[in-house]
Amino acid sequence: MKSEIEQLSAEISSYVIESRESLEEFQRLYTSRKGQISALFDRMKEVPKEDKALVGKWLNELKQNAQAKSDFAESQFASKTDSDKPNDLTLPGSYWKSGGRHPLMSVMYQVSEIFRRIGFVIEEGPEIEDDWHNFTALNFEEGHPAREMQDTFFISKNPDRVLRTHTTSVQARILENNKPPIRILAPGRVYRNEAISARAHCFFHQVDGFYVDEGVSFAELKTTLNHFVRTMFGADTKTRLRPSYFPFTEISAEMDLSCLICKGEGCAVCKHSGWVEILGCGMIDPNVLKNCKIDPDRYSGFAFGMGVERVAQLLYRVPDLRLYSQNDIRFLQQFKQIN
Ligand code: DAH
Repeated sequence: MKSEIEQLSAEISSYVIESRESLEEFQRLYTSRKGQISALFDRMKEVPKEDKALVGKWLNELKQNAQAKSDFAESQFASKTDSDKPNDLTLPGSYWKSGGRHPLMSVMYQVSEIFRRIGFVIEEGPEIEDDWHNFTALNFEEGHPAREMQDTFFISKNPDRVLRTHTTSVQARILENNKPPIRILAPGRVYRNEAISARAHCFFHQVDGFYVDEGVSFAELKTTLNHFVRTMFGADTKTRLRPSYFPFTEISAEMDLSCLICKGEGCAVCKHSGWVEILGCGMIDPNVLKNCKIDPDRYSGFAFGMGVERVAQLLYRVPDLRLYSQNDIRFLQQFKQIN
């Protein structure tokens, strides 16, 4: 009997239960009422009286071990089918990390929308530009000091290529290839060779707009810009025009807004003047029209150009221009709710 118990014990411990089927086979062979362990218990009556206690102990141990092995396998297979159960609804949910518009793109989009609704068409031009469209067509003559005012990145001399210093270059391109009436808004990136600081960067963004037709007047420029300013910054925003100079406009002006922060009372942002500068504008110089094969005796036009970072700064009070291009998610996330 002892050797049979030992043999059965060895068999049970080496039995590999790797599937539900083999578990059932194990139970049928060993732990069921008709299994081999039960059969050995049935033979207890043959065991001499003095050995009964010891053999009984061996058999009980054998039975417990077999049962433990069967129970363990059962629990393993049970947990494998847990995926059929419903999820734990008390766990925190998983969520998609959605993106958002970059604040500068958002501003360009908002500005474009305002002008698009009053009939302006959005156009883009190349960032690598030739001297003609960036300067010469726009009335910057060779050796004109204004060329040096815009710290240009020159790419090559022949053919002459620069990184465009302003989106006004799009004006030259469009005027050359279209017949009035022309009403265009040109948003985009521009480049200047400036040391990077909180207040200057080597690339930034502009929106230029222009309108050319018969009899376009300075009064139309003013009302168009006032409409833009009040839609963008609020109906109670005041504006004023100051005389200025640009090679491509005659007459030229700059537009100021009543300071959005102190409402004209005077604060650090407006340097206590109550006004902040927002854009340059003017009537397109007849030379520019001529350069682009448009008859200046028949047609006139207005134009304006603004810095997108400047508009964003006034709207969102971003204190440092470098923040826009550092891609810091903590900065960018603050603008997620904005269009
Ligand atoms: N291009 C000018 C600049 O970069 C801005 C500007 C001023 C654009 C007057 C215009 C304009 O179209 O009419 O500083």
